[in-house]
Amino acid sequence: MDLFDNLIDDHRLILGVLDAMERFIGKVEAGAELDLVELNRFAVFLREFVDLVHQEKEETLLFPAMARLGYAKGGAPIAHVHAEHEREHKLIFELRQIVVRDRPFSSTKRARIVGLVHEIVAFLREHIRKENELLYPTVKSEFSGQTLEDITKKLWTGEQAERRIVEDAWLRTLATELASAHGK
Ligand SMILES: [Fe+2]
Ligand SMILES: [Fe+2]
Repeated sequence: MDLFDNLIDDHRLILGVLDAMERFIGKVEAGAELDLVELNRFAVFLREFVDLVHQEKEETLLFPAMARLGYAKGGAPIAHVHAEHEREHKLIFELRQIVVRDRPFSSTKRARIVGLVHEIVAFLREHIRKENELLYPTVKSEFSGQTLEDITKKLWTGEQAERRIVEDAWLRTLATELASAHGK
C-alpha cells in the first residue's frame, strides 16, 4: 500500500464516520435526545484522526514531496488544500468546544450543533472528493517510483512511529464502532 492508497483508505474510514454522524444528528433533528457522550466520540475521532493523523500526513509528507517536485508552496493546489485544512480545523475546534460545555443547551445552541455537524459533514465530503478525484491522481502520476517508495516508508518510521501505530489502530476501531452503532 503506497502513500496514496493509505490516504484513500483514511478517506474511506472518514466517510463512514461522516455517514454515521449524519444519521446520528438526523435523529436529533427528528426529536431524539442529544447524546453528548456520543457526540463527543465523534468529536474525538474528527480531532484525532481527521485533524491530526490524516491531515498531518498530507501536510508533512505529501506537500513537502510536492514542493520538491516543483509545486509552489503558496500556489494552487497546495495553498488551496491547506486553506481547506484550516477551515476544517476551525469547524472541528468549534465542535470540540461545544461538547465540553455546561448543559442544558438552549434551543439556539442545539440548533447550532445540528447546523455545525451538517457543515462539517458537507465540507469534509467535498474536500475528500477533490483530493481523491483531482489532487491525488495528478500528483501520483508525477511521482517517480522511488519518490513514492521513500515517502511511503516515512508513514511508519521515525521517532513517533510506535505511538502512531497504536493510536492509528485505536482510531480505526473507534471509527468501526461509530459506523456500526449508527448503521442504516
Ligand atoms: Fe486534506
Ligand atoms: Fe485527505
